[in-house]
Amino acid sequence: KSLTFDYSRANRFISKDEIEYFKPAVQTALKTLLDKSGAGKDYLGWIDLPVNYDKEEFNRIKQAAHKISLDSQVFLVIGIGGSYLGARAAIEFLTNSFYNLLDAKKRGYPQIIFCGNSISSKYLADLKGYLEGKDFSINVISKSGTTTEPAIAFRIFKEMLEQRYGKDEAVKRIYATTDKSCGALKKLADDEGYETFTVPDDIGGRFSVLTAVGLLPIAAAGIDIKALIDGAAVMRESLIKEPYESNPAALYASVRNILLRKGKTVEIIANYEPGLHSLSEWWKQLFGESEGKEQKGIFPAAVDLTTDLHSMGQYIQDGSRIVFETVVSIDESPEQIFINKEEKDTDGMNYLAGKSIDFVNKSAMSGTILAHTDGGVPVLSINIAKQDAYCLGQLFYFFEAACGISGYILGVNPFNQPGVESYKKNMFALLGKPGYENEREQLLKRLSV
Ligand code: PA5
Repeated sequence: KSLTFDYSRANRFISKDEIEYFKPAVQTALKTLLDKSGAGKDYLGWIDLPVNYDKEEFNRIKQAAHKISLDSQVFLVIGIGGSYLGARAAIEFLTNSFYNLLDAKKRGYPQIIFCGNSISSKYLADLKGYLEGKDFSINVISKSGTTTEPAIAFRIFKEMLEQRYGKDEAVKRIYATTDKSCGALKKLADDEGYETFTVPDDIGGRFSVLTAVGLLPIAAAGIDIKALIDGAAVMRESLIKEPYESNPAALYASVRNILLRKGKTVEIIANYEPGLHSLSEWWKQLFGESEGKEQKGIFPAAVDLTTDLHSMGQYIQDGSRIVFETVVSIDESPEQIFINKEEKDTDGMNYLAGKSIDFVNKSAMSGTILAHTDGGVPVLSINIAKQDAYCLGQLFYFFEAACGISGYILGVNPFNQPGVESYKKNMFALLGKPGYENEREQLLKRLSV
């Protein structure tokens, strides 16, 4: 494996004894997870997924991605929450920083555009305009098949596709990723004859990036999905086999909970690569939705550095001491650019001549880690060797495993999301959905005062 977790920079805040003291709790949590005997035990399919995934479906995903690359300039990925964040994270991490803007030949694969993750009519109208005159296909992703945001977007773009190509050709350009047997989307897909991919029953949305949910959009962007799975399989081995002292996911879960008990209620994930921005978004959902319940949990936040050193950096250095920071770093940048000497050193940068930009970035990172530590912020480090699919697979699995263990240590069910229902209930009532008449009346009264 090429992922490491290191908390040695935070040793001012965490003693060896505390790590030892937490060992039984972490081992129990890990055992509960692997035995599938704890809360949410029906949603642990992600644990063995890297070794027992559906090979037939995997091949169909690759074939569909190939077809899409031949017949589409744009691939629309419609989904929200766990039904899009993982794919977005992978695509942004593993492709050119300007992937969607590249010349089609250079890109070699369709543009990937996400929608159905908000209810903005401007965004949808702009997207409709953008798609004028472009060949496109759709991947509609919803495990439940009933989520409002993607359902609305799907209506709009399904209609556009049907008007553009006629019903028969439109059917061939729609890929539905949903439950294997129930839900409105499954029924629609069966009725219409869309190619379908499955969200396994035992895998919840935010743990589904390595199922068809993530893999089809990721493959459509030309990424090696087998390398992603292989990376995850390596971390699975590590999770199962390595002792507590050298088990990265177990130690990360342990350290987070030790810090929480010391009043560090906010974890900020920090990166020094713009390509990691959406991975942080995925991570926020994973931990926020898994742990934030029963009035407990660490608040997951994210910063992009060095960008945010010029905004949130002030707070991290000097604000309320409720924060710890987890830095995700990459050993080797896939690209090297060197700084040249200029005859006139007007900007005073000649002292960097001959140095690589990555050296400057890494120096900024090391300096910031020390400054934040001096400011009273424990800093944890997660490092991967390369910005590639194999390492990303490890990272995804590492976070999922750590999240499961951490949630159990916290004493919550990390695999449900009861809190998400409250906004939906109110929205349905206000929209006049049949069955919500009483709630509607009460809400309207509350809104009018
Ligand atoms: O993690 C989760 O379960 C959620 O974030 C879901 O992924 C999200 O609500 C979308 O649900 P669905 O795929 O059923 O449309």
